[in-house]
Amino acid sequence: MLMRSPLIVGNWKMHKTVAEALGYVTALLPQLAELRGCDIAVAPVFTALSSVAAAAGGAPLQVFAQDVAAEGPTGAFTGEVSAEMVKEAGCQGALIGHSERRRYYGETDAVVSAKTRRALDAGLLPIVCLGETLAERESGAALEVVERQLRAIADALTEDDARRIVIAYEPVWAIGTGRAATPEIAQAMHRQIRSVWEALFGAGAALRVLYGGSVTAENVADFTALPDVDGALVGGASLSPLGFAQLIRQSQAGAPARQAAKPSREADG
Ligand code: PGA
Repeated sequence: MLMRSPLIVGNWKMHKTVAEALGYVTALLPQLAELRGCDIAVAPVFTALSSVAAAAGGAPLQVFAQDVAAEGPTGAFTGEVSAEMVKEAGCQGALIGHSERRRYYGETDAVVSAKTRRALDAGLLPIVCLGETLAERESGAALEVVERQLRAIADALTEDDARRIVIAYEPVWAIGTGRAATPEIAQAMHRQIRSVWEALFGAGAALRVLYGGSVTAENVADFTALPDVDGALVGGASLSPLGFAQLIRQSQAGAPARQAAKPSREADG
């Protein structure tokens, strides 16, 4: 049986002090009490990771870093934080290669691959972000660009690693713009990502692929209902705890439709 449990992750980006982050967790946790069958995580700034992880301890809320160093576990790399340090802070995983890291901090496919390796070696779950720019989509190169980004990651992985990684498809033109991808665009890209992965690592790889880019409580179920979408990576709409809780509840509204549409090997299992 292949199981791809849904995952909803709030990427706070450079928002929230430690005090604000703790207030958020206090407001969010009671909202998650009734929730079943879905993994939830938030990705605070580095300075808030250990406090948020301690506050979430034992609750169904995971904590992810927004990045890790490509080097480690220690060394002369001023300003960097290693995957081992993130793990020690109490985190379960890390975002890797977010488009803002690629765009503003020059992260290449090689850097993203090295960071993925570090996260895996430290025992973190990497959520590796991929996605094309508007120009790449308009020129018809979207599938090719995302496949290149995906293969750059896959090249450095063993079959065992391939089962311990999550991919987030985040078209750059949809991030923070209020212009989410259409369900058709998301489904086609997720299918492509999954087929490349299955060709490389076998059908048992059961890759989880999240959609990200202007996801809201209003549109999340349109994505989670799709057969190849396993959850969402949410920026702006994750910043309010009650808004995020509402989005999580709505994401489950898509689940029955998805269940019906899933391949029989999963539905039967
Ligand atoms: P957004 O950001 O939901 O604000 O578009 C998503 C992301 O950058 O992960």
